Amino acid sequence: MPADFDTIVNLAKNRGFVFQSSEIYGGLRSAYDYGPLGVSLLRNVKEQWWRSMVQLRDDIVGIDSAVIQSPRVWEASGHLSSFTDPLVECTNCNSRHRVDKLEKPNQCPTCGMKDTFTEPKDFNLMFQTHMGPVSTAENAVYLRPETAQGIFINFENVRRTARMKLPFGIAQIGKSFRNEITPGQVVFRTREFEQMEMEFFCRPEDSAEWLEYWLEERRNWYMDLGMSADNLRMRAHEDDELAHYASSTYDVDYNFPWGWDELEGIANRGDFDLAAHGTHSGKDLTYFDPETNERFYPHVIEPAAGATRTTFAFLLDAYSEEEVGGEKRTVLKLDKRLAPNKVAVLPLSKKPDLVESTQAVAGPLRERWDIEVDVTQSIGKRYRRQDEIGTPYCVTVDFDTLEDQQVTVRDRDTMAQDRIPIEGLVRYLDERLAP
Ligand code: GAP
Repeated sequence: MPADFDTIVNLAKNRGFVFQSSEIYGGLRSAYDYGPLGVSLLRNVKEQWWRSMVQLRDDIVGIDSAVIQSPRVWEASGHLSSFTDPLVECTNCNSRHRVDKLEKPNQCPTCGMKDTFTEPKDFNLMFQTHMGPVSTAENAVYLRPETAQGIFINFENVRRTARMKLPFGIAQIGKSFRNEITPGQVVFRTREFEQMEMEFFCRPEDSAEWLEYWLEERRNWYMDLGMSADNLRMRAHEDDELAHYASSTYDVDYNFPWGWDELEGIANRGDFDLAAHGTHSGKDLTYFDPETNERFYPHVIEPAAGATRTTFAFLLDAYSEEEVGGEKRTVLKLDKRLAPNKVAVLPLSKKPDLVESTQAVAGPLRERWDIEVDVTQSIGKRYRRQDEIGTPYCVTVDFDTLEDQQVTVRDRDTMAQDRIPIEGLVRYLDERLAP
């Protein structure tokens, strides 16, 4: 069973993972800010994605494309005409809703009135702005609603300069923007968010096999990073759910506190994008296979995950409560690779020579990992705080340390304690924290 939603949201806020954007001005529901622990967790999730997609593979390279692109990109990709959600307005309270997300199709969730909706109309989700000092239709530009198009328009640049041969992929992590009709559930659906997308180009006849491959790979990625298999499922899209560019799509769903919902979409985009950009730009975006002497548009399998949404799911999945000695212990059982801080170094008391010794112990650890030195409160309370934010190891410097040059290392999950010589501490932790 996933953790209680409000409990996690409170922990996320009170421990500095996620804050509402513009909180001092009453907050903006569309966006969130990541606090000291949240930014580390988010970075670690993105790093793990990049490591598995780019660093550990020969067949995938990365790029970082601009948020603002030529408006012709969105014309060619179909986003200007088809990237819409069906919108209805309640004639009683004037609230607006996405038809496909209504719990009761004819009842307004804001005022409760029935049969007060207008006819649905298509609402385009792209944010529009203007390039330069004049706001005219000619210089309208859009904030990208997906990172994927930055990859397609650079297909030939990357293929040529990185000398890639099919099958190969191009990966990108970055911000995307959608003017969602109903943002909600904290960072789950926001108007500004981050995506981790990879476009995998292959021969058309191999695309079904690569789709199977990426379904397996992506499911394993979540599970390898500790996400519970019971909270994950793969769901095939019905025909009427498919995006305008996809011939088949699977969602990686997570069992959120409100039910199963999407973490990632894995789509067979066929040659839709390369062919569209080839036609609209007049540039040749086909691929020449020197072995078969054929020229064709590669087909594309796209695993497209949300970085911010996935981070939230890891947080939910890691939350656990247990009873220890008659007291409740809250632990974020985050995989060590994801934990914001790897080590906390804690002097047993605030006595100056202990604090000084603590800083000396912390120095070499800082060089390698994100760590925290905490000198406040009783040692028991500090352990509990570190458990709550998912720190895998606490290193305690006590009075004996000053004599025997040893420290106590406490394991978050087992609470077992080892006495370790300071000179062997980096090696001890390295063996346990190495990816
Ligand atoms: N290029 C394909 C594409 O963008 P998508 O299913 O619309 O596909 C991919 O988006 C992922 O991006 C989603 O599975 C989700 O994790 C994340 N995402 C999409 N819209 C989001 C939003 N408004 N807020 C947070 N994450 C979002």
